[in-house]
Amino acid sequence: MTAHDKQRQTALVTGASAGIGVDLAECFAREGYDLILAARTEQALREVADRLASTYEIEVTPIAVDLGQIGGGTKLAAAIDKLDAQVDVLVNNAGYGNAGAFGESDIDIELGMVDLNDRTLVELTHIYWPTMLKNRRGGVLNVASTAAFQPGPLMATYYASKAFVLSFTEALWEEARGTGVCVSCLCPGPTLSKFRERAGTDRKKLSRAAASMTSASVAELGYRAWKANKRVEITGLRNRVLAAAVPFLPRAAVLGMVRNLQSPL
Ligand SMILES: NC(=O)c1ccc[n+]([C@@H]2O[C@H](COP(=O)([O-])OP(=O)(O)OC[C@H]3O[C@@H](n4cnc5c(N)ncnc54)[C@H](OP(=O)(O)O)[C@@H]3O)[C@@H](O)[C@H]2O)c1
Repeated sequence: MTAHDKQRQTALVTGASAGIGVDLAECFAREGYDLILAARTEQALREVADRLASTYEIEVTPIAVDLGQIGGGTKLAAAIDKLDAQVDVLVNNAGYGNAGAFGESDIDIELGMVDLNDRTLVELTHIYWPTMLKNRRGGVLNVASTAAFQPGPLMATYYASKAFVLSFTEALWEEARGTGVCVSCLCPGPTLSKFRERAGTDRKKLSRAAASMTSASVAELGYRAWKANKRVEITGLRNRVLAAAVPFLPRAAVLGMVRNLQSPL
C-alpha cells in the first residue's frame, strides 16, 4: 500500500440513488474520496456508482438496502464490514416527507419516516462515530431541512423528524469540538428532486411560494460547510432570513403561516 493509499478516505452516502444524495456523493468524489453509496434502488445506484468511479478514478461501491427497516443501518454496516471497508465520513441524507393532515395519514408511512429520517441516522452515526473520534478525522454530514426550525402543521411528522436531526447534529458538533472530526447539519429549503413527488408537496401552496434550488448547488453548500466544520448550513438567503426570524415571531403566527403554506393549492 502506498502512502497515497493510506491517506485515502471513504465516504458513505445514504440516499445516493437520486436527488441531493447523488450530488453530495459527487462533491466527495471530486475531492478524491472513495465512496459507498446506499439506497433501495439497485439499478439507479449502480449507474451513479459507475459514472462517479470512471469520472473521478475512485472506488465506488453501491449497496442496495432499505434503511427504513428497523436495523437497516446495522445491516448496511455488516455489508460494509464484509467488504473490509472503512467509513471515514458518514453522510446521512436518505429521507422522505409526507404531506397532509395527521389524522388522515397512514401510520406506516409516518413511522417509516421517523425510522428512516431519525432512527437509522442515529444508528449509523453510533456505529461509525467512535472510530472517527479515535482517528481524529472524518465526520458526519446530516441532511435536515428548513422544516427543522419550526413545527409543521399538515406535515407534522416530517418537520418534527427534521427538528430531531438538527438538534442531534448540533449536539454532536459540540461533542466533537477540538477532535478534528467535522460535523455539519445541512438544512435545504425547497430543492428540485423527487422529494416532492413522494411527499405530495407539489400540490401545496409552498411549492408556488418559494423558488427551488438545484440539488447540485445545495450539495455544494453542504459539502463546503462540512469541510469547514460549520455547525449548520441553511441554503439560500431567503431561507436563512426566515429561519433567523422564527424565534422572534409569535409561535401561533408561525404555526398559522406554515399551515397556510402546507395547504392544498
Ligand atoms: N427536496 C427538497 O425540497 C428537500 C428540502 C429539504 C430537505 N430535504 C432532504 O434532503 C434529503 C434528500 O432528499 P431529496 O430531495 O434528494 O429526495 P429524493 O430525490 O426523493 O431522494 C431521496 C433519496 O433517499 C433514498 N431513500 C428513500 N427511502 C429510502 C429507504 N427506505 N432506504 C434507503 N434509501 C432511501 C432514495 O433512494 P431509493 O428510493 O432508491 O431508496 C433517494 O436516493 C432528505 O433527507 C430530505 O428530507 C429535501
